[in-house]
Amino acid sequence: AAAEKGGWPSFMKKEVSEQPEAVAKTILGRLHDGSVVIPELEAFGDTALQGIRRITVVACGTAAYAGLVAKYAIEKWARVPVEIELSHEFRYREPVLDDTTLVISISQSGETMDTLMAVKYARANGAKAISICNTQGSTIPRESDAVIYTHAGPEVAVASTKAFVAQITALYLFGLHLARVRGTLSAAELAVEAEQLQAVPDKIAEVLEQAEKVEQLARWMADTRSVLFLGRHVGFPIALEGALKLKELAYIHAEGFAAGELKHGPIALIEPGQPVFVVVPSPRGSAELHSKVVSNIQEIRARGARVIAIAEVGDAAVLPFADEVLRIPLAAPLYEPLLAVVPLQIFAMELATAKGLDVDQPRNLAKSVTVE
Ligand code: G6P
Repeated sequence: AAAEKGGWPSFMKKEVSEQPEAVAKTILGRLHDGSVVIPELEAFGDTALQGIRRITVVACGTAAYAGLVAKYAIEKWARVPVEIELSHEFRYREPVLDDTTLVISISQSGETMDTLMAVKYARANGAKAISICNTQGSTIPRESDAVIYTHAGPEVAVASTKAFVAQITALYLFGLHLARVRGTLSAAELAVEAEQLQAVPDKIAEVLEQAEKVEQLARWMADTRSVLFLGRHVGFPIALEGALKLKELAYIHAEGFAAGELKHGPIALIEPGQPVFVVVPSPRGSAELHSKVVSNIQEIRARGARVIAIAEVGDAAVLPFADEVLRIPLAAPLYEPLLAVVPLQIFAMELATAKGLDVDQPRNLAKSVTVE
C-alpha cells in the first residue's frame, strides 16, 4: 500500500494533489477550436439535446454537491431548468418524467445502488439518462443512454475529493456542449468559457502551493467541536461540501448554509469563538453578491464568530472582518468552486490527521454504497 501511495502519507493527500490533472484529463479531447464537443454524446444526437425541456440530476453525497454547482452553470449557459435530487428521494416520490426530461446521474464509482435505481426508474418512465462516472465499465453507465467519463483516475480514499472537481468539470463541459447545440451561447462566448475552464488546472495548482497555511490553521483548530460554512451562489454548494468533508474525515459537527439564510436561523448558532468559514464571491464577478457576503461576515463577526474567509487574491474588503484569509486565484465566478473547495478539503484532512484519525478509511463509511 505504501508504494501505491507514491510517497504520500495517505491516498487522500495524494488524490487532493492530483486535482489539477483530474480536471485537465477530463477536459482533454473535448475542446476543439474554442468550443466543446463531447464525442460520447454523438450517439445521443443533437436533436434529442435540442428537445430537452428540463434536467434532473440524481446523485448522493459529494456527487450531489457537484450537481448543485453545475446547476448554476448549465441554467445560465443552456437556459434549461435544472433540479438536483438525492437519488434515494427521487425514486420514492413518483417524479414527473417524460421524453423531454433528461436525467443526469453523477457517481464516482458507478455502483451506488440508490443512484442506479434512480436511473433505471427514470428510463422505465420515459426519460433519457446520461451518466457522469469515473469508473470505466461500471453498472450505472451501462444502464444509461450515454456516459461522460470523468478522468480523475482511481479514487481510493473513501471521502471523495478529486472526483468532485472532475465531476464539476464534466458537467461544465456538458453545459457548454448543450449551449452550443441549442444555440444559447455564441461562438465567442463559448470560447471565453472554454478558456476559463482550461485555466483551472494551473489555478488549482496555485491553491495547493498554499496548503501549509491551511494545514497550520487545521492543527490550531484540532480541538474545535463545531464549524459552520457559509456560501452564496456557487459558493453555497461548496459550503455544503466543506461541512461534509469535515464530518466525514474529522467527525466534527459541521453545517453548510446559504449565506442569505443566515437571518432565517443559522445566525442563532453564532456565539463567541464559533469558527465560520465563508466562501466569498469575487467582487469583480458580482459587486452585489460580494457586498452581501461581506455584510454577512460583519453580522457574524459582531456576534463573536471567528471568521475564516476564502477570498480571491486582492479582495481587501474582507480584511477588516476576517480572522484568517485563505486566498484563491482570480477566476470568473463559475470557476471559483473548483478553487475554493481545495482549502476546505485540506482543512478537513489535516484536522483529522491532527486528531490521529485515518483519513483514507473514516469510521462507518464505505467508498461505494451498494445497498439501499
Ligand atoms: C459514499 C462515499 C462518498 C461519495 C458517495 C457517492 O458515501 O463515501 O464520498 O460521495 O458515496 O458515491 P458515488 O460513487 O456514487 O459518487
